[in-house]
Amino acid sequence: MDNSELTILVIDDEAFVRETISDYLSDSGFEILGAGDGEEGLDVFRKESPDAVLVDLNMPKVDGFEVLKEISAESPDTPIIVVSGAGLIQDAIKAVRLGAWDFVTKPIVDLKILEHALGQGLERASLIAENRRYKEHLEAEVEKRTEDLRHEVKVRREAQEAFMALQDEVIETQKEIILTLGEVVETRSNETANHVRRVAELSYILARRYGLEKEEADLLRLASPMHDVGKIGIPDTILNKPGKLTPDEIKVIQTHTTIGHEILKHSERPIIKAAAIVAYEHHERWDGTGYPQGLSGEEINIYGRITGIADVFDALGSERVYKKAWSIEKIKGYFAEGRGKQFDPQLTDLFFDGIDEILELRRKHPDG
Ligand SMILES: [Fe+2]
Ligand SMILES: [Fe+2]
Repeated sequence: MDNSELTILVIDDEAFVRETISDYLSDSGFEILGAGDGEEGLDVFRKESPDAVLVDLNMPKVDGFEVLKEISAESPDTPIIVVSGAGLIQDAIKAVRLGAWDFVTKPIVDLKILEHALGQGLERASLIAENRRYKEHLEAEVEKRTEDLRHEVKVRREAQEAFMALQDEVIETQKEIILTLGEVVETRSNETANHVRRVAELSYILARRYGLEKEEADLLRLASPMHDVGKIGIPDTILNKPGKLTPDEIKVIQTHTTIGHEILKHSERPIIKAAAIVAYEHHERWDGTGYPQGLSGEEINIYGRITGIADVFDALGSERVYKKAWSIEKIKGYFAEGRGKQFDPQLTDLFFDGIDEILELRRKHPDG
Protein backbone atom coordinates (compact mmCIF):
# COMPACT_ATOMS: atom_id res chain seq x y z
CA MET A 1 0.00 0.00 0.00
CA ASP A 2 1.23 3.49 -0.82
CA ASN A 3 1.18 5.36 2.48
CA SER A 4 2.15 8.78 1.18
CA GLU A 5 -1.32 10.24 1.16
CA LEU A 6 -2.44 8.66 4.41
CA THR A 7 -2.63 10.71 7.59
CA ILE A 8 -2.39 9.10 11.03
CA LEU A 9 -3.42 10.87 14.21
CA VAL A 10 -1.41 9.82 17.30
CA ILE A 11 -3.06 10.76 20.60
CA ASP A 12 -0.81 10.14 23.60
CA ASP A 13 0.06 12.26 26.61
CA GLU A 14 3.65 10.98 26.61
CA ALA A 15 5.63 13.07 24.13
CA PHE A 16 8.30 10.39 23.90
CA VAL A 17 5.79 7.77 22.76
CA ARG A 18 4.29 10.17 20.21
CA GLU A 19 7.72 10.99 18.81
CA THR A 20 8.84 7.38 18.61
CA ILE A 21 5.71 6.36 16.76
CA SER A 22 5.82 9.46 14.52
CA ASP A 23 9.43 8.90 13.53
CA TYR A 24 8.83 5.31 12.69
CA LEU A 25 5.63 5.83 10.72
CA SER A 26 6.99 8.91 8.91
CA ASP A 27 9.79 6.71 7.64
CA SER A 28 7.11 4.38 6.26
CA GLY A 29 5.68 7.33 4.36
CA PHE A 30 2.69 8.29 6.55
CA GLU A 31 1.72 11.85 7.34
CA ILE A 32 1.58 12.15 11.13
CA LEU A 33 -0.56 14.42 13.33
CA GLY A 34 -0.08 14.49 17.12
CA ALA A 35 -2.23 15.35 20.12
CA GLY A 36 -1.23 15.32 23.80
CA ASP A 37 -4.62 14.54 25.32
CA GLY A 38 -8.07 13.34 24.40
CA GLU A 39 -9.59 16.79 24.08
CA GLU A 40 -6.92 18.00 21.67
CA GLY A 41 -7.11 14.64 19.92
CA LEU A 42 -10.82 15.06 19.18
CA ASP A 43 -10.22 18.62 17.97
CA VAL A 44 -7.53 17.54 15.55
CA PHE A 45 -9.61 14.57 14.43
CA ARG A 46 -12.58 16.78 13.55
CA LYS A 47 -10.41 19.34 11.78
CA GLU A 48 -8.13 17.03 9.81
CA SER A 49 -10.18 13.85 9.28
CA PRO A 50 -7.16 11.52 9.46
CA ASP A 51 -7.24 8.09 7.84
CA ALA A 52 -6.52 6.29 11.12
CA VAL A 53 -6.14 7.04 14.80
CA LEU A 54 -3.76 5.61 17.42
CA VAL A 55 -4.97 6.41 20.91
CA ASP A 56 -3.72 5.92 24.46
CA LEU A 57 -6.26 5.06 27.14
CA ASN A 58 -5.00 6.85 30.25
CA MET A 59 -4.79 10.55 29.50
CA PRO A 60 -5.69 13.80 31.26
CA LYS A 61 -8.89 15.76 30.53
CA VAL A 62 -10.57 13.39 28.12
CA ASP A 63 -9.39 9.79 28.31
CA GLY A 64 -9.00 7.26 25.50
CA PHE A 65 -12.34 5.56 26.19
CA GLU A 66 -14.18 8.80 25.54
CA VAL A 67 -12.12 9.42 22.41
CA LEU A 68 -13.00 5.90 21.18
CA LYS A 69 -16.66 6.44 21.86
CA GLU A 70 -16.84 9.76 20.04
CA ILE A 71 -14.74 8.89 17.04
CA SER A 72 -16.45 5.54 16.41
CA ALA A 73 -19.82 7.29 16.65
CA GLU A 74 -18.81 10.12 14.33
CA SER A 75 -16.81 8.10 11.87
CA PRO A 76 -17.37 4.35 12.22
CA ASP A 77 -15.22 3.52 9.19
CA THR A 78 -12.04 5.16 10.52
CA PRO A 79 -9.71 2.56 11.98
CA ILE A 80 -8.88 3.37 15.57
CA ILE A 81 -6.23 1.39 17.38
CA VAL A 82 -5.58 1.53 21.10
CA VAL A 83 -1.93 1.83 22.10
CA SER A 84 -1.84 1.45 25.88
CA GLY A 85 0.03 -0.03 28.78
CA ALA A 86 -0.75 -3.65 29.56
CA GLY A 87 -3.52 -2.93 32.02
CA LEU A 88 -6.57 -4.90 33.00
CA ILE A 89 -8.12 -7.24 30.49
CA GLN A 90 -11.43 -5.49 31.24
CA ASP A 91 -9.94 -2.27 29.82
CA ALA A 92 -9.14 -4.01 26.58
CA ILE A 93 -12.66 -5.51 26.39
CA LYS A 94 -14.19 -2.13 27.14
CA ALA A 95 -12.05 -0.49 24.48
CA VAL A 96 -13.13 -3.00 21.84
CA ARG A 97 -16.77 -2.55 22.83
CA LEU A 98 -16.39 1.20 22.40
CA GLY A 99 -15.10 0.74 18.88
CA ALA A 100 -11.37 -0.07 18.99
CA TRP A 101 -10.27 -2.02 15.95
CA ASP A 102 -7.13 -3.41 17.57
CA PHE A 103 -5.06 -3.24 20.74
CA VAL A 104 -1.29 -2.83 20.91
CA THR A 105 0.42 -2.87 24.31
CA LYS A 106 3.09 -0.47 25.52
CA PRO A 107 5.95 -0.47 25.80
CA ILE A 108 6.10 -1.26 22.11
CA VAL A 109 8.93 -3.71 21.80
CA ASP A 110 8.78 -3.83 18.06
CA LEU A 111 7.14 -0.98 16.14
CA LYS A 112 6.53 -3.38 13.27
CA ILE A 113 3.73 -4.85 15.38
CA LEU A 114 2.09 -1.44 15.50
CA GLU A 115 2.66 -0.83 11.82
CA HIS A 116 1.16 -4.22 11.04
CA ALA A 117 -1.96 -3.51 13.12
CA LEU A 118 -2.25 -0.13 11.46
CA GLY A 119 -1.81 -1.63 7.99
CA GLN A 120 -4.55 -4.18 8.65
CA GLY A 121 -6.90 -1.50 9.92
CA LEU A 122 -6.29 0.69 6.88
CA GLU A 123 -6.77 -2.21 4.53
CA ARG A 124 -10.06 -3.13 6.18
CA ALA A 125 -11.14 0.51 6.05
CA SER A 126 -10.34 0.74 2.37
CA LEU A 127 -12.33 -2.45 1.69
CA ILE A 128 -15.27 -1.05 3.61
CA ALA A 129 -15.04 2.20 1.65
CA GLU A 130 -14.80 0.31 -1.61
CA ASN A 131 -17.81 -1.82 -0.70
CA ARG A 132 -19.75 1.26 0.16
CA ARG A 133 -18.84 2.96 -3.12
CA TYR A 134 -19.77 -0.20 -4.99
CA LYS A 135 -23.10 -0.44 -3.18
CA GLU A 136 -23.83 3.21 -3.88
CA HIS A 137 -22.87 2.70 -7.49
CA LEU A 138 -25.21 -0.29 -7.72
CA GLU A 139 -28.03 1.59 -6.09
CA ALA A 140 -27.53 4.52 -8.43
CA GLU A 141 -27.43 2.13 -11.38
CA VAL A 142 -30.61 0.36 -10.27
CA GLU A 143 -32.28 3.71 -9.74
CA LYS A 144 -31.18 4.91 -13.16
CA ARG A 145 -32.33 1.77 -14.95
CA THR A 146 -35.62 1.80 -13.13
CA GLU A 147 -36.06 5.38 -14.21
CA ASP A 148 -35.11 4.52 -17.82
CA LEU A 149 -37.55 1.64 -17.80
CA ARG A 150 -40.32 3.78 -16.38
CA HIS A 151 -39.63 6.35 -19.06
CA GLU A 152 -39.61 3.72 -21.79
CA VAL A 153 -42.90 2.23 -20.57
CA LYS A 154 -44.39 5.70 -20.51
CA VAL A 155 -43.19 6.53 -24.02
CA ARG A 156 -44.48 3.23 -25.35
CA ARG A 157 -47.83 3.63 -23.67
CA GLU A 158 -48.19 7.12 -25.10
CA ALA A 159 -47.24 5.89 -28.57
CA GLN A 160 -49.73 3.06 -28.29
CA GLU A 161 -52.46 5.39 -27.10
CA ALA A 162 -51.75 7.77 -29.95
CA PHE A 163 -51.82 4.87 -32.39
CA MET A 164 -55.10 3.57 -30.97
CA ALA A 165 -56.63 7.02 -31.11
CA LEU A 166 -55.55 7.28 -34.72
CA GLN A 167 -56.93 3.84 -35.47
CA ASP A 168 -60.23 4.78 -33.81
CA GLU A 169 -60.25 7.93 -35.86
CA VAL A 170 -59.71 5.98 -39.09
CA ILE A 171 -62.45 3.49 -38.20
CA GLU A 172 -64.87 6.25 -37.24
CA THR A 173 -64.05 8.10 -40.45
CA GLN A 174 -64.67 4.94 -42.46
CA LYS A 175 -68.03 4.44 -40.78
CA GLU A 176 -68.99 8.02 -41.40
CA ILE A 177 -68.00 7.90 -45.08
CA ILE A 178 -70.01 4.72 -45.55
CA LEU A 179 -73.06 6.16 -43.81
CA THR A 180 -72.75 9.44 -45.67
CA LEU A 181 -72.45 7.65 -48.99
CA GLY A 182 -75.59 5.65 -48.19
CA GLU A 183 -77.38 8.79 -47.03
CA VAL A 184 -76.49 10.70 -50.18
CA VAL A 185 -77.93 7.94 -52.32
CA GLU A 186 -81.06 7.56 -50.22
CA THR A 187 -81.62 11.30 -50.10
CA ARG A 188 -81.42 11.45 -53.86
CA SER A 189 -84.24 8.94 -54.01
CA ASN A 190 -86.26 10.92 -51.48
CA GLU A 191 -85.61 8.74 -48.47
CA THR A 192 -84.50 10.15 -45.15
CA ALA A 193 -80.96 10.09 -43.86
CA ASN A 194 -81.89 8.06 -40.81
CA HIS A 195 -83.24 5.30 -43.04
CA VAL A 196 -79.74 3.93 -43.72
CA ARG A 197 -78.79 4.26 -40.06
CA ARG A 198 -81.82 2.23 -39.04
CA VAL A 199 -81.22 -0.35 -41.78
CA ALA A 200 -77.68 -0.71 -40.41
CA GLU A 201 -78.91 -1.28 -36.85
CA LEU A 202 -81.82 -3.53 -37.89
CA SER A 203 -79.44 -5.65 -39.97
CA TYR A 204 -77.12 -5.97 -37.01
CA ILE A 205 -79.92 -7.07 -34.66
CA LEU A 206 -81.25 -9.62 -37.12
CA ALA A 207 -77.74 -10.94 -37.86
CA ARG A 208 -77.17 -11.50 -34.15
CA ARG A 209 -80.54 -13.19 -33.71
CA TYR A 210 -79.76 -15.43 -36.64
CA GLY A 211 -76.55 -16.48 -34.88
CA LEU A 212 -73.81 -14.60 -36.71
CA GLU A 213 -70.76 -13.75 -34.56
CA LYS A 214 -70.54 -10.20 -33.29
CA GLU A 215 -67.65 -9.40 -35.68
CA GLU A 216 -69.63 -10.52 -38.71
CA ALA A 217 -72.79 -8.75 -37.55
CA ASP A 218 -70.68 -5.59 -37.11
CA LEU A 219 -69.39 -6.04 -40.64
CA LEU A 220 -72.93 -6.24 -41.95
CA ARG A 221 -73.90 -3.18 -39.92
CA LEU A 222 -71.20 -1.24 -41.78
CA ALA A 223 -71.97 -2.75 -45.18
CA SER A 224 -75.78 -2.57 -45.24
CA PRO A 225 -76.03 1.27 -45.53
CA MET A 226 -74.58 0.89 -49.04
CA HIS A 227 -77.39 -1.36 -50.29
CA ASP A 228 -78.68 1.23 -52.78
CA VAL A 229 -75.35 2.75 -53.74
CA GLY A 230 -75.99 1.69 -57.35
CA LYS A 231 -78.73 4.32 -57.58
CA ILE A 232 -75.88 6.72 -58.30
CA GLY A 233 -76.09 5.37 -61.84
CA ILE A 234 -79.84 5.82 -62.28
CA PRO A 235 -80.93 9.02 -64.07
CA ASP A 236 -82.80 11.50 -61.92
CA THR A 237 -85.71 11.64 -64.32
CA ILE A 238 -86.45 8.00 -63.68
CA LEU A 239 -85.38 7.79 -60.04
CA ASN A 240 -87.61 10.69 -59.03
CA LYS A 241 -90.33 10.42 -61.61
CA PRO A 242 -93.58 11.57 -60.01
CA GLY A 243 -96.00 9.31 -61.87
CA LYS A 244 -96.15 5.62 -62.57
CA LEU A 245 -93.04 4.02 -64.05
CA THR A 246 -93.13 2.23 -67.39
CA PRO A 247 -91.90 -1.38 -67.48
CA ASP A 248 -88.69 -0.17 -69.14
CA GLU A 249 -88.14 2.39 -66.43
CA ILE A 250 -88.65 -0.25 -63.77
CA LYS A 251 -85.97 -2.32 -65.48
CA VAL A 252 -83.60 0.66 -65.35
CA ILE A 253 -84.30 1.18 -61.65
CA GLN A 254 -83.61 -2.48 -61.00
CA THR A 255 -80.12 -2.11 -62.44
CA HIS A 256 -79.11 -0.27 -59.22
CA THR A 257 -78.31 -3.75 -57.85
CA THR A 258 -75.85 -4.66 -60.60
CA ILE A 259 -74.43 -1.14 -60.75
CA GLY A 260 -73.81 -1.21 -56.98
CA HIS A 261 -72.19 -4.60 -57.33
CA GLU A 262 -69.98 -3.37 -60.16
CA ILE A 263 -68.87 -0.36 -58.14
CA LEU A 264 -68.01 -2.34 -55.02
CA LYS A 265 -66.90 -5.78 -56.21
CA HIS A 266 -63.26 -4.95 -56.92
CA SER A 267 -62.30 -4.21 -53.34
CA GLU A 268 -60.45 -6.62 -51.08
CA ARG A 269 -61.71 -4.82 -47.96
CA PRO A 270 -64.14 -7.03 -46.01
CA ILE A 271 -66.66 -4.22 -45.49
CA ILE A 272 -66.74 -3.30 -49.19
CA LYS A 273 -66.88 -6.97 -50.18
CA ALA A 274 -69.90 -7.46 -47.89
CA ALA A 275 -71.42 -4.26 -49.26
CA ALA A 276 -71.02 -5.59 -52.82
CA ILE A 277 -73.03 -8.69 -51.85
CA VAL A 278 -75.69 -6.61 -50.10
CA ALA A 279 -76.03 -4.25 -53.08
CA TYR A 280 -76.31 -7.16 -55.48
CA GLU A 281 -78.74 -9.37 -53.55
CA HIS A 282 -81.01 -7.19 -51.39
CA HIS A 283 -83.85 -7.39 -53.94
CA GLU A 284 -83.71 -11.16 -54.41
CA ARG A 285 -86.78 -13.05 -53.12
CA TRP A 286 -86.94 -16.29 -51.20
CA ASP A 287 -89.23 -17.82 -53.87
CA GLY A 288 -86.84 -16.93 -56.70
CA THR A 289 -88.95 -14.16 -58.26
CA GLY A 290 -86.64 -11.30 -57.25
CA TYR A 291 -83.91 -9.53 -59.21
CA PRO A 292 -81.30 -9.23 -60.67
CA GLN A 293 -80.30 -12.92 -60.65
CA GLY A 294 -83.53 -14.60 -59.56
CA LEU A 295 -81.77 -16.53 -56.81
CA SER A 296 -83.94 -18.43 -54.35
CA GLY A 297 -83.81 -19.71 -50.76
CA GLU A 298 -80.34 -20.08 -49.32
CA GLU A 299 -78.75 -19.32 -52.68
CA ILE A 300 -79.30 -15.75 -51.61
CA ASN A 301 -76.46 -14.69 -49.38
CA ILE A 302 -77.47 -14.25 -45.72
CA TYR A 303 -76.30 -10.61 -45.94
CA GLY A 304 -78.74 -10.01 -48.78
CA ARG A 305 -81.63 -11.78 -47.03
CA ILE A 306 -81.09 -9.86 -43.79
CA THR A 307 -80.64 -6.43 -45.36
CA GLY A 308 -83.64 -7.09 -47.64
CA ILE A 309 -85.92 -7.54 -44.63
CA ALA A 310 -84.44 -4.58 -42.74
CA ASP A 311 -84.76 -2.31 -45.80
CA VAL A 312 -88.39 -3.20 -46.58
CA PHE A 313 -89.44 -3.06 -42.93
CA ASP A 314 -87.96 0.39 -42.48
CA ALA A 315 -89.25 1.76 -45.79
CA LEU A 316 -92.80 0.66 -44.97
CA GLY A 317 -92.66 2.24 -41.52
CA SER A 318 -91.41 5.57 -42.88
CA GLU A 319 -93.40 8.38 -44.38
CA ARG A 320 -92.56 9.17 -47.99
CA VAL A 321 -93.78 11.87 -50.37
CA TYR A 322 -95.99 9.31 -52.06
CA LYS A 323 -97.23 7.47 -48.94
CA LYS A 324 -97.92 7.67 -45.22
CA ALA A 325 -95.97 5.59 -42.71
CA TRP A 326 -97.59 2.19 -42.27
CA SER A 327 -98.80 1.05 -38.84
CA ILE A 328 -96.93 -1.82 -37.27
CA GLU A 329 -100.04 -4.00 -37.67
CA LYS A 330 -100.15 -3.33 -41.38
CA ILE A 331 -96.41 -4.06 -41.70
CA LYS A 332 -96.83 -7.31 -39.78
CA GLY A 333 -99.57 -8.27 -42.18
CA TYR A 334 -97.34 -7.52 -45.14
CA PHE A 335 -94.54 -9.70 -43.80
CA ALA A 336 -96.93 -12.49 -42.81
CA GLU A 337 -98.08 -12.49 -46.42
CA GLY A 338 -94.49 -12.33 -47.77
CA ARG A 339 -93.08 -14.92 -45.35
CA GLY A 340 -91.65 -17.78 -47.44
CA LYS A 341 -92.37 -15.84 -50.67
CA GLN A 342 -90.48 -12.57 -50.61
CA PHE A 343 -88.75 -13.18 -47.28
CA ASP A 344 -86.73 -15.96 -45.64
CA PRO A 345 -89.35 -17.47 -43.25
CA GLN A 346 -86.90 -18.17 -40.44
CA LEU A 347 -85.50 -14.62 -40.55
CA THR A 348 -89.00 -13.16 -40.69
CA ASP A 349 -89.92 -15.01 -37.48
CA LEU A 350 -86.71 -13.98 -35.75
CA PHE A 351 -87.32 -10.39 -36.75
CA PHE A 352 -90.90 -10.16 -35.44
CA ASP A 353 -90.32 -12.29 -32.33
CA GLY A 354 -88.48 -9.39 -30.72
CA ILE A 355 -90.31 -6.50 -32.36
CA ASP A 356 -90.17 -4.29 -29.23
CA GLU A 357 -86.42 -3.85 -29.52
CA ILE A 358 -86.88 -2.93 -33.16
CA LEU A 359 -89.59 -0.36 -32.51
CA GLU A 360 -87.40 1.10 -29.76
CA LEU A 361 -84.64 1.58 -32.32
CA ARG A 362 -87.07 3.52 -34.50
CA ARG A 363 -87.81 5.81 -31.58
CA LYS A 364 -84.09 6.40 -31.11
CA HIS A 365 -83.46 7.29 -34.75
CA PRO A 366 -86.67 9.00 -35.92
CA ASP A 367 -87.02 10.72 -39.26
CA GLY A 368 -85.93 14.32 -38.90
FE1 LIG B 1 -82.56 -1.23 -53.34
FE1 LIG C 1 -83.15 1.44 -48.72
